[in-house]
Order: sequence, then structure tokens, then C-alpha cells
Amino acid sequence: MDLVARLRAAGCVFAEEEAELLRDADESQVARRVAGEPLEHVLGWAAFRGRRFVVAPGVFVPRHRSELLVDLAVARAFPGAVVVDLCCGTGALGAAVAGAVSSGDSKASPPASSDSSATPSIELHAVDADPAAVACARRNVPGAVYEGDLDAPLPPSLRGRVDVLLASPPYVPTAEIARMPPEAREHEPLGTLDGGPDGLALARRIAALAPGWLAPGGALLVECATHQGPDLAAAVRDYGLAATVHGDDDATTVEGRWPTH
Ligand SMILES: C[S@@+](CC[C@H](N)C(=O)[O-])C[C@H]1O[C@@H](n2cnc3c(N)ncnc32)[C@H](O)[C@@H]1O
Repeated sequence: MDLVARLRAAGCVFAEEEAELLRDADESQVARRVAGEPLEHVLGWAAFRGRRFVVAPGVFVPRHRSELLVDLAVARAFPGAVVVDLCCGTGALGAAVAGAVSSGDSKASPPASSDSSATPSIELHAVDADPAAVACARRNVPGAVYEGDLDAPLPPSLRGRVDVLLASPPYVPTAEIARMPPEAREHEPLGTLDGGPDGLALARRIAALAPGWLAPGGALLVECATHQGPDLAAAVRDYGLAATVHGDDDATTVEGRWPTH
């Protein structure tokens, strides 16, 4: 059986495209894909916003829907901005923001007090709790990568200086995980998916910690499921930020803006 037919028989919807990507793969890689392992884990990279990022087995594969969060972050970042990517996984989101700001995609202006002349990019800090994700992020992120629980490993010197705090944390409600496609459920660890009873356990913790890190006028950007937007926006308001829900049925990001004074 040729490769396209094997992939199609295994249930791969984009068999032709995958066969092209696996053209130089060895038989063990093809067998892994046919057995249901995500294509990105087999290839060792994931495409996100037009770039390739290293991704290892057991690490969350960045999703196209997170491009909304990245676009919002790019629009709020500026050369020299301090950007933190919490729950970074491969680090693709923060790295994509850095790449876009370096190429001049951001239209945001730095605050009058900032000296952005020294650097064309952002000052990026990324955190993940999982050592496998941290190892990938260290290969993808043009900045500092820390291992630990949410903001715990961040340098205290960043307090009050973060211009954009972005996060795509686990947000699947625990009871829904059993209904996820096997590709995610069996190959992305529970810690990358499980957001607790209503999916917002991690997102609420991030809303609570954000005021301790944001610069005046800084933005918190947290991805969630569309139906979770209003609840997460309410949590963000509870912590003193001005909340906005961005997105549509495919992708949702809640923004919390810290006052300028
Ligand atoms: C849904 S994945 C998203 C990864 C990445 N942001 C992306 O969009 O590709 C969530 C990530 O959060 C990490 N994580 C879960 N709990 C965490 C915690 N308490 N502190 C830091 N990272 C955590 C997981 O290891 C996983 O990499």
C-alpha cells in the first residue's frame, strides 16, 4: 500500500499533505503516525503563524486558534516591551510575538518613559511547569525560559514592568477530556489540557496574579473556550482589570487592561 493509502486507511483526513511531509520519514515514523500519534510529534516540529517550532512527544502542539491571542499581543507590544508567556508549552506563542515585533508588525507605541531605541524586539520571559515543554521552549524562545508553577519562577525585578502578559493555559473542563479526539487525549498529557471543573482554574489564578506584574496600562491576554469568555471576563474584573472579550466561535481571548495610574 502506498503512503497516502496507508494514512487514509488510518483515518488521516489530510492524507496527501501528510504524505508529502512524511516523504523522507523512516518506517518507524510512518508507523507512529499510522498508530495515531500527532503528525507534529512524529515530525518533531509544528507550524505556527508561518514558522516551525520544535515540539517533542508529550508536549502540547500549538493550535492555529491561538493566532488570535498572538495578533492581540503583537498589537499591544512594541520594541523593548516586556512580554511574559505563562503556560508556554513549546513557547511558540511568545516567540511568534517576538518575531512579529522584530519584523515591524506591531503598531503599538511605547510609553513615553520607555527607551525602545536599544532593541528591535521584545524582552521575552516564558514559563512552563513541564520539563519536556521547557526543553522545547528553550530551543524556540528568543528569551528566558523558566520551569515552575505559573509566575513562581519569574524574576521579582519584573514586578510592575510587564507590558503584555499572555497565556494559553489548560482550559478543558475535566469532564470533557474523555470526549476529546484520541490524538489529543492520548498524546498530550492531562496537565496540558485539564482546566478543572469549569476549565478556568488556571485562568483564574492567572487573572489573580496579573496585577502584581503588569506595568501601568499593561495588558493581560488569556485564551479560553468561547463559552468561558463571560466567566473569565468577570474574574478578570474582580482583580481590578478592565475586561474585554475578543474573538468568535473558533477562538476567544479575554483581555484585562491594568489602569495607567
Ligand atoms: C494548553 S497547553 C498550551 C501551551 C502553549 N501556550 C500553546 O498554546 O502552545 C498548556 C500548558 O500549560 C502548562 N501548565 C499547566 N499547568 C501549569 C502551571 N501550573 N504552571 C505553568 N505551566 C503549566 C502545560 O505544561 C502546558 O504546556
